[in-house]
Amino acid sequence: MRTPQVESASGLPAEVTIYEVGPRDGLQNEQTVVPAATKVEFIRRLEAAGLRTIETTSFVPAKWVPQMGDAEQVLGALGPDGVGRRRPALVPNERGLDRAEELGLQAIAIFGSATETFAQKNLNRSVTEQYAMFEPVVRRATSDGLWVRAYVSMCFGDPWEGPVPVEQVVEVAQRLMGLGCDELSIGDTIGVGTTGHVHRLLEALGHSGIGTDRIAVHFHDTYGQALANTLAALQDGVATVDAAAGGLGGCPYAKSATGNLATEDLVWALTGAGVSTGVDLDTLVETSVWMARQLGRPSPSRVVRALAGA
Ligand code: HMG
Ligand code: MG
Repeated sequence: MRTPQVESASGLPAEVTIYEVGPRDGLQNEQTVVPAATKVEFIRRLEAAGLRTIETTSFVPAKWVPQMGDAEQVLGALGPDGVGRRRPALVPNERGLDRAEELGLQAIAIFGSATETFAQKNLNRSVTEQYAMFEPVVRRATSDGLWVRAYVSMCFGDPWEGPVPVEQVVEVAQRLMGLGCDELSIGDTIGVGTTGHVHRLLEALGHSGIGTDRIAVHFHDTYGQALANTLAALQDGVATVDAAAGGLGGCPYAKSATGNLATEDLVWALTGAGVSTGVDLDTLVETSVWMARQLGRPSPSRVVRALAGA
């Protein structure tokens, strides 16, 4: 079978926005730097598969993430965003915003940490110091009319600190959203969360004034929980889901982070449940098979493997 039998599930949104992170989260963790021309082709193929929001790159120093050192080249080759399409990029600081605005970017994402250890490792700052770095970025970006997403990492557990209290995550989320961001993406950076935890965090965020209409979920699939956790979040009203084509992904500053939820696995599950995504699964699978060839290893996505061999 190339598509699932459709049997509508109750309690899910009619439509889900997939926020594709393959070109950024997927490729930032590769051992080798993928050539800019390959990245450009990857992004164009993803767009051809119907993905409307694609996180393309990061405006961070190349010495921190060499894999994203070609941001200007990639975005320069892609050209302008186009109507109905969003190509956000990670921006940690004002220098990053200068670079993004020079290329005419319309959407950016800041990325904070819920824990001290990861804030130090990933941002070279404490949790408190991260706000001072992000504040001028969000102020200028929003006043220039850019759309701004705020990630919070380590929302469900931290490899150095262990369990992360829900209240601690909510406090960081409130501080970042209080800067004026449009969307919050809650990151399970190391893939340890489970469904009850997802419900608990979404409920606590709701009580703090951040409703599911402004929340996206970002699950890495290290422990095989990403799809279950996503469906749990959708039942609570979330309608934006981060995923990476072929299940690529990870974070160079958190070794236990592996691939993101595979976009193909998500599309299969949602299609079967009668939820529309606007994505053409065959084109997407072809793209991931092509990308796996470029990277020299098979995709970890179950759906890619099933359909590529079908
Ligand atoms: P720092 O070293 O403290 O920065 O790093 P600095 O301000 O002291 O600057 C050091 C040098 O870098 C200076 O140059 C700056 O000009 C330059 P020098 O004077 O030495 O020649 N510089 C820049 N150059 C280009 N673009 C810039 C920039 N900024 C400074 N934007 C910094 C602080 C935040 C920059 C660093 O810690 C950093 O880049 N961290 C990002 C690491 C990263 O990208 N991690 C992966 C993404 S996060 C993730 O994957 C999680 C997520 O997926 C969600 C989840 O899964 O949970 C989003
Ligand atoms: Mg991530």
